Amino acid sequence: MAESIEHTETNHLAAKAFAFTSALWFAFATSFGMIAAGYLIAPDFLGNIEYIQFGRARPIHVNLVLFGFVTPGLLAAALYYTPRLLGTHLYSQQLGVVTAVLWNIMLVISVISLAMGFSQGREYAELPWAVDIMIAVLFVMIIINLFMTVRQRQEQILYVSIWYTCAALVLTAVGYCLGNVIWKPDSGALLGIPDAILLWFYGHNIFGLLLTPLALGVAYYVLPLATRSPLYSHTLSLIGFWSLIVVYTHVGTHHLLQVPVPTWLKVISIVDSVAMVIPVMVFLINIWYTVRGKLGDIHANIGAKFVFTGTIMYFFANFQGSFMALPQVQRITHFNNWVVGHAHIGVFAFAGITALGGLYFVLPKITKKPLYSRYLADLQYWLILIGVSVMAVDLTIVGLIQGNAWYNGETIYRVLPEIHLYYVIRASAGLFILAGAYLGLYNIVRTLFFNPGAAKE
Ligand code: HEM
Ligand code: HEM
Repeated sequence: MAESIEHTETNHLAAKAFAFTSALWFAFATSFGMIAAGYLIAPDFLGNIEYIQFGRARPIHVNLVLFGFVTPGLLAAALYYTPRLLGTHLYSQQLGVVTAVLWNIMLVISVISLAMGFSQGREYAELPWAVDIMIAVLFVMIIINLFMTVRQRQEQILYVSIWYTCAALVLTAVGYCLGNVIWKPDSGALLGIPDAILLWFYGHNIFGLLLTPLALGVAYYVLPLATRSPLYSHTLSLIGFWSLIVVYTHVGTHHLLQVPVPTWLKVISIVDSVAMVIPVMVFLINIWYTVRGKLGDIHANIGAKFVFTGTIMYFFANFQGSFMALPQVQRITHFNNWVVGHAHIGVFAFAGITALGGLYFVLPKITKKPLYSRYLADLQYWLILIGVSVMAVDLTIVGLIQGNAWYNGETIYRVLPEIHLYYVIRASAGLFILAGAYLGLYNIVRTLFFNPGAAKE
């Protein structure tokens, strides 16, 4: 059954378009990351070109990694595996391609707006109103495509990857509109403390209810297949899913522990941040038991190798996250590079590396050819793994220096020379990631469009 569907599927155009989108914007996003890192080493770096000053390059970098690289990468895999798992075709390849084209137009408009200084100034919600509307419409287009695919399914049982994908899309479509206050086009904000609460409800959900479930869906698809092992427990997979939905929706206020928000909200966010250990460990136990004794298979499959690494990073991001949601810890770690380190472990080392794994796993299937170069993919793996690990350790050390200085009442100008070297190390680690991103772009473009490899039957 599955094989005949594979042969009649119209070239997986939608998945290909999203795969290309992800690889392309990964390269742009890291380039802007390098520019931002350069400014932190030398504030007069690149002179006074207003369009790429730190205040503009930073939101461009962050929005591009989120909406240009990681989300499209994870969606490319979902557009492939959703119909496969349901024994049917994607509802509409054309709709998928149109969505990808509009998605790229949205990204171009986003970069131009932010570079010109049009920003709503709220983190992860900087994009102007017109772009917010585009993003909401794009999510609705993907939802229609995937939900109609679910509707026309032959397979009645919904595997956990489908649960995660569908939930991520619906919750984000709603959460994005709320968090961006789209009913107030001019400001995109409420007033005062309620705005901070709403922003961070949305802010953490963009990681917790978009990137995390999409990435877990990819892991649940790729790892059992690559190791030819049945999932250890379907019951655990559903416990993990529902506990994630229940717990992760309430953690946003852990970003505001130093802010005069109501205490009961802080307490809920702290308790639920610690309770995140339940969905996280349930997922990890389930997936690690599934691949137990099969590390050889994982090593042999480059997609699975990335995804498995992503699961390890998921452990670190969440362990660190629960820890830094404790007020005593956050007294030191808030407002400094510790948080930036955590952000790179979570968004890049977990979600981004999982997205790359999903891409490398599905590319041979959607192009019906082997990857253009397994060697380049391996090289990219090591470049980004070394890059992000060095960056995370480096930023954690800077965070501790800054946090202690602040705690002890030290003035900023005396701390800056102390951390300068660490900024140079961060930028150097960034060069590894940058090289990995451009290598990946080359490899993926060759695999998609100019691959001399023999076609797989
Ligand atoms: C157990 C799960 C997690 C918990 C409890 C947690 C907790 C936290 C806390 C407390 C902060 C704010 C720190 C501060 O401002 O002082 C934070 C920031 C952040 N987290 Fe997590 N985290 C978790 C997992 C993740 C994951 C999986 C990702 C990525 C997919 C992620 C991405 C981020 C990002 C990007 C920030 C920075 C937000 C900013 O710009 O201020 N976190 N996290
Ligand atoms: C060349 C590699 C990279 C470099 C040099 C770099 C550099 C930076 C810099 C300088 C910032 C601003 C930090 C600050 O305001 O103090 C930043 C923020 C951020 N970057 Fe990167 N980055 C790179 C790659 C990535 C990748 C690949 C991802 C995700 C897939 C990512 C996700 C983020 C996020 C989520 C933030 C916001 C952090 C926060 O607000 O706490 N970065 N990055």
